[in-house]
Amino acid sequence: MSHTPRILAFAGSTRRDSANKKLARAAAHAAVAAHASVTWIDLRDYPLPLFDADLEVQGLPPAMLRLRALFAQHEALIVASPEYNGFFPPVLKNALDWLSRPALGQERHAVFAGRPVLLLSAVAGRSGGTAGLQQLRQQFLNLKALPYGRQFVLPLAADAFDARNRVGDPARRAELADTVAGFALSLHALAPA
Ligand SMILES: Cc1cc2nc3c(=O)[nH]c(=O)nc-3n(C[C@H](O)[C@H](O)[C@H](O)COP(=O)(O)O)c2cc1C
Repeated sequence: MSHTPRILAFAGSTRRDSANKKLARAAAHAAVAAHASVTWIDLRDYPLPLFDADLEVQGLPPAMLRLRALFAQHEALIVASPEYNGFFPPVLKNALDWLSRPALGQERHAVFAGRPVLLLSAVAGRSGGTAGLQQLRQQFLNLKALPYGRQFVLPLAADAFDARNRVGDPARRAELADTVAGFALSLHALAPA
């Protein structure tokens, strides 16, 4: 058990007061409590142009090179995503599309293949974002990643966090912690002996 899994956590929203940023951060705290090492990033700090193959042949955007390096340093992902009209948002799709491209001598999907991913969602509506997560789960499967079986969804997100940006409802907070702990434990189990 000396291996400490390294997890990269981020939200599929760049909005300053994003509920999903709060959720990704809350999950990051829970993962640290479950003996993982977590790097939390804000996609706002990695501005990417809309994917365009003509841009790609000119070279990967600097933000993409930084993101790829971060992915290489972490073995698992926690992704908290809003739902936009039943799908995950374009800012996340765009980042995943850029990341899916072969670069620096790597194979296509190199940054995703075999990588465990915990999926979370916070939305304004009552669904919690299950439709968007279904699409996101399929997206990660297409990228050869390993979406974790359990996920966590948070409905009515505008009022779901307390003053400390924790999930306000203690039962839901415990559910998030339990889901994240299960994910972290599965990473320990995957670790080389
Ligand atoms: C284009 C768009 C589409 C949306 N579609 C949905 C939806 O399908 N279901 C839902 O519950 N909320 C929907 N919302 C509301 C979001 O859930 C809400 O804005 C949420 O706070 C966004 O996540 P964020 O706080 O992390 O930015 C939508 C918002 C936008 C801007």
